[in-house]
Amino acid sequence: MLELKNVMVNYGVIPALKSISFKVEEGEIVTLIGANGAGKSTILKAICGLIKLKGGAITYQGDTISGMGAHLIIRRGISQVPEGRGIFANLTVEENLGLGAYVRKDKAEINRNLKVVYDRFPRLFERRKQVGGTLSGGEQQMLAIGRALMAAPKLLLLDEPSMGLAPLVVKEIFKIIKEINQTGTTILLVEQNARMALSVANRGYVMETGQIISHGTARELRDNEDVKKAYLGH
Ligand SMILES: Nc1ncnc2c1ncn2[C@@H]1O[C@H](COP(=O)(O)OP(=O)(O)OP(=O)(O)O)[C@@H](O)[C@H]1O
Ligand SMILES: [Mg+2]
Repeated sequence: MLELKNVMVNYGVIPALKSISFKVEEGEIVTLIGANGAGKSTILKAICGLIKLKGGAITYQGDTISGMGAHLIIRRGISQVPEGRGIFANLTVEENLGLGAYVRKDKAEINRNLKVVYDRFPRLFERRKQVGGTLSGGEQQMLAIGRALMAAPKLLLLDEPSMGLAPLVVKEIFKIIKEINQTGTTILLVEQNARMALSVANRGYVMETGQIISHGTARELRDNEDVKKAYLGH
């Protein structure tokens, strides 16, 4: 479904992605794990067309999307939940969700998507008139995911959904991620919480300073001694 081939990105003269190659097949949950500054968010931005590649290519459903505008990439069915969530604090839950549908014109379709999101997140329905800034961290993460789902994506990119959340809330969010996947959405999940990420993912890639240093099935990575030492805390 998605393939990165020798993707290189620089910030100024500093390389952030050195030569990244990986694939996501339709229906999978694939996770990218790695420490701060490894380049995980940069990969998601590159996929969404938010930063230019210095080299390599990104293909999606057989077409090259690197070099295309971000709005065109969203229209093809790729949505991102950005790091830090990007909720508009002064807009209501429902207004925030509406912004996620901006590539859609059909009002009936938007309402259908809104219903799908409210069914998935009853808590957002209860709080639909509340402004985003007053939601709890977990609710804000749900809103960010809900907003991305308003574009009815085929591929959902999640950037550290567990960040700053209590363990129980993290569990709840990961359960929802799994459910979203089971209803037919392919997921690329960026996480520092390797343990949780590998508990839901089919496969994973481990990043270090702009490179992929290891990959395998979730089970292989959980059993990998280097991964255990560096990311699973034993
Ligand atoms: N706009 C920018 N300008 C210059 N350097 C940047 C910019 N954005 C990111 N970088 C650098 O690129 C590298 C990769 O950053 P990136 O945000 O992709 O890492 P990350 O793996 O997502 O880290 P984290 O887990 O902390 O979110 C870092 O060294 C970072 O400082
Ligand atoms: Mg990041």
